[in-house]
Amino acid sequence: MDQELNGAMRSVSINSNGLAATPHLNGHSKDEPDNVRRTAASGGALSASASAAASASVSKATNASTAAAAARAIPAAASSASTATEATSLSGLAGASEAEKKKMVYELCQQLLLTDEQVQELCYRILHEIRRGLAKDTHPKANVKCFVTYVQDLPNGNERGKFLALDLGGTNFRVLLIHLQENNDFQMESRIYAIPQHIMTGSGTQLFDHIAECLSNFMAEHNVYAERLPLGFTFSFPLRQLGLTRGLLETWTKGFNCAGVVNEDVVQLLKDAIARRGDVQIDVCAILNDTTGTLMSCAWKNHNCKIGLIVGTGSNACYVERVEEAELFDVEGNRKPHVLINTEWGAFGDNGALDFVRTEFDQDIDSHSINPGKQTFEKMISGMYMGELVRLVLVKMTHAGILFKGQDSEVLNTRGLFFTKYVSEIEADEPGTFTNCRLVLEELGLTNATDGDCANVRYICECVSKRAAHLVSAGIATLINKMDEPFVTVGVDGSVYRFHPKFHNLMVEKITKLIKPGITFDLMLSEDGSGRGAALVAAVACREDILNSK
Ligand code: BGC
Repeated sequence: MDQELNGAMRSVSINSNGLAATPHLNGHSKDEPDNVRRTAASGGALSASASAAASASVSKATNASTAAAAARAIPAAASSASTATEATSLSGLAGASEAEKKKMVYELCQQLLLTDEQVQELCYRILHEIRRGLAKDTHPKANVKCFVTYVQDLPNGNERGKFLALDLGGTNFRVLLIHLQENNDFQMESRIYAIPQHIMTGSGTQLFDHIAECLSNFMAEHNVYAERLPLGFTFSFPLRQLGLTRGLLETWTKGFNCAGVVNEDVVQLLKDAIARRGDVQIDVCAILNDTTGTLMSCAWKNHNCKIGLIVGTGSNACYVERVEEAELFDVEGNRKPHVLINTEWGAFGDNGALDFVRTEFDQDIDSHSINPGKQTFEKMISGMYMGELVRLVLVKMTHAGILFKGQDSEVLNTRGLFFTKYVSEIEADEPGTFTNCRLVLEELGLTNATDGDCANVRYICECVSKRAAHLVSAGIATLINKMDEPFVTVGVDGSVYRFHPKFHNLMVEKITKLIKPGITFDLMLSEDGSGRGAALVAAVACREDILNSK
């Protein structure tokens, strides 16, 4: 039996007092790149002298040509064929002192770090792309689409009632029943269902039938089978919205690729699947992005929340924009001053705007992904790729004889098997201790690591995660500066942000440096934005004062 198809994976109930934890499975597992193609990476052997010369010549890539030159100086490990035996024969480097190896690791990693000037340049470029997304004439060609969400009202705390929510967008799919009550109280029950790989890349009909089946099972289990409840659908992919309950899928991301859905109205596909079953009845009141849910969820308690950010399997942000700026928002008779914009910033750089900071490792990730050339910014940041980025660096250093005396392992050489949660675990070790690091290396089949190796592995993780935090910070600072309000709270969710021990601090530090003087901000961890946020968007849409103002 296909247990994943029929079986509920995990059931969680929480209320506003947080009686049960947010339903993340084993740290990052919701984000693990099950869908990164698992082909064995072939290692690249560097000759000792080539490697030494290459490490010496790797300097910070400040423009596309120097980046390319750096990439040429060190042939990409995963692109040239080699075997473990070849790699271990590199006794020249394997015999180098710990201090020399540390220096080589440090030098190779410099390409992963962003200078202040580069981060500032990124802010300019992101702003430019956001403006292109917002403006009617440049929107069709813009990478950062800045889709209008049709959400114009933030919650005011008066939202009440029972709502269903669907949350599709990571490795798992969730169905939730949320009861919004007086005094910012709520109760929530949810169940996680797996989306098997064959459904993630199967047909759209299969996907929506699976969703409808899970919804029906959930309603039966939660005694609401016979009720007709309002439903908010968190659909965390780029959606060209045509209204609060209509949206055409622009493109799939994060390992999903179901045929027949691009350019289709996703709400209609859901309704059709429910109608095919004919057993349950629902009212789809809103379709929204997880960033919108995150923002709404935080805004319910904190009225300064004007930005929603996700750093999880994927990455994206939404923000409150003035309607005059949102040229594609032309609802007749609209008198409200603001609208939420879903930036879809994951696609920033798809036109080459990030080439001046991309590395050989980023190119490798991209060319082995199921969507090459797309989601360039996301691939440098999010949980679906972070572990794999680290793995690529480790493979290169190992095959060069700099790490583990040149001895690799099958797991290390296999795509997708260095999980992003390892990065958080390794960086959570107390300075100078390597307990988690050694456990991770053991899982990778690397049992002979020295303390020097462990310190180097940790440094590599730090460079990859710090770069991700700085890229996200450039995006957030750009939005804060554009909004130009004296105080902004950023609602944040996603497992990288949640579980990485330093991500929050790295972001606070960088954003502080980048925003205009006089503006202050804070980062607020969102409590289940995709679930409660969906209920809130649905609830706000049917709030009495809003219905009356229409
Ligand atoms: C999607 C966004 C989503 C983000 C975070 C990206 O891949 O395109 O819509 O908000 O992931 O889940």
